[in-house]
Amino acid sequence: MKKIQQVLSSGKVDIYLDASFNLLTKLVDKKNAVIVTDENIFSKHRAKFKNWNVITLKPGEQYKIQLTADAIIEQLIEFQADRSTTLIGVGGGVITDLTGYVASIYMRGIRFGFVPTTLLAMVDASIGGKNGVDVGAYKNLVGSIRQPSFLLYDYSFLKTLPEMEWSNGFAEIIKHACIFDNRLFDLLKNYSLDKIKKDKKLLASIVAKNVSLKLAVVKKDEFEKGDRKLLNFGHTLGHALETQYDLTHGQAVALGMVFAAWLSEKIIGLKKSPEIIQVLGQYKLPTFASFDADRVFNVLVMDKKRVSNTMHFILLNRIGKGVVHPIKLNQLQKHVSTYTQLNK
Ligand SMILES: NC(=O)c1ccc[n+]([C@@H]2O[C@H](COP(=O)([O-])OP(=O)(O)OC[C@H]3O[C@@H](n4cnc5c(N)ncnc54)[C@H](O)[C@@H]3O)[C@@H](O)[C@H]2O)c1
Repeated sequence: MKKIQQVLSSGKVDIYLDASFNLLTKLVDKKNAVIVTDENIFSKHRAKFKNWNVITLKPGEQYKIQLTADAIIEQLIEFQADRSTTLIGVGGGVITDLTGYVASIYMRGIRFGFVPTTLLAMVDASIGGKNGVDVGAYKNLVGSIRQPSFLLYDYSFLKTLPEMEWSNGFAEIIKHACIFDNRLFDLLKNYSLDKIKKDKKLLASIVAKNVSLKLAVVKKDEFEKGDRKLLNFGHTLGHALETQYDLTHGQAVALGMVFAAWLSEKIIGLKKSPEIIQVLGQYKLPTFASFDADRVFNVLVMDKKRVSNTMHFILLNRIGKGVVHPIKLNQLQKHVSTYTQLNK
């Protein structure tokens, strides 16, 4: 087990990598803690939850909504949770986002921690203190920024992770490599999803690397005024696609990254964008899709990176170097339209 501590203005986060779920009993008072998880995780790891207060939700992004937050609050009242209670999100990004959100508003804020159980939550969703819920077609429209007290990484959860969720996690890992770290990109290029899944040591080191990449950018820019925006690489188009089509988050982000790489080639002269397509393929992620430009653009304009009639789009100068690039909405609409013509 390795412990890292990160001190941010919005709180101190203790991170336990390569730890065991049992460590939880040392981090919280079991009687005064409530776990939030979903039915998939609960049914596959039942023994771990024995003698804990547990709120079990239905799985899926469609439940990352205010109605579910209200239902959690009602159950917290039933558990007589008070200001001294710790809420623990044990799950993927849907669970960690919801748990962080509820913990931020219940009694104006209670202590919370996460045990991420998907690769995506381990390398991305559980880190950084952003939490919230979706509203209709708009992802993460309502929420707050508040840091968990702790993150506990128990890799044994990954044994039951469905294949698709591995790819979803790698979409964010490839994103980190594209915007921050060309060495990580080269490593990913030399391996594949199947090879990494079999190599526990390598997997643990990739998770740790991605945790430190995300922590570094969060530390530098806790409230998303600058560099943290880079983490949205692939997400502007990705989020719009995700809400309009039957795609997982990772698939949508992969398609968004291919579009952003194409745009980077066109606008700021990125070379080697085919390598991004190749790597996404190695991790079983989609790279081409035909979609309705107008339908997707109408959702895309609601992106939080839009300021008036300009979108702060994330592009790549080169692999390993992301940049924020302002694009006028009418220009962006033309680019999306051209891109969909090419993909027909
Ligand atoms: N807050 C942030 O900074 C941030 C960053 C990235 C993504 N997110 C959010 O994260 C969410 C996506 O997260 P996700 O991909 O983890 O989705 P998820 O929480 O829906 O989990 C994916 C699926 O895997 C199942 N699952 C989880 N752990 C499992 C395990 N160990 N074994 C078997 N099944 C398991 C879940 O039940 C679910 O069906 C999105 O809502 C996205 O907006 C948030």
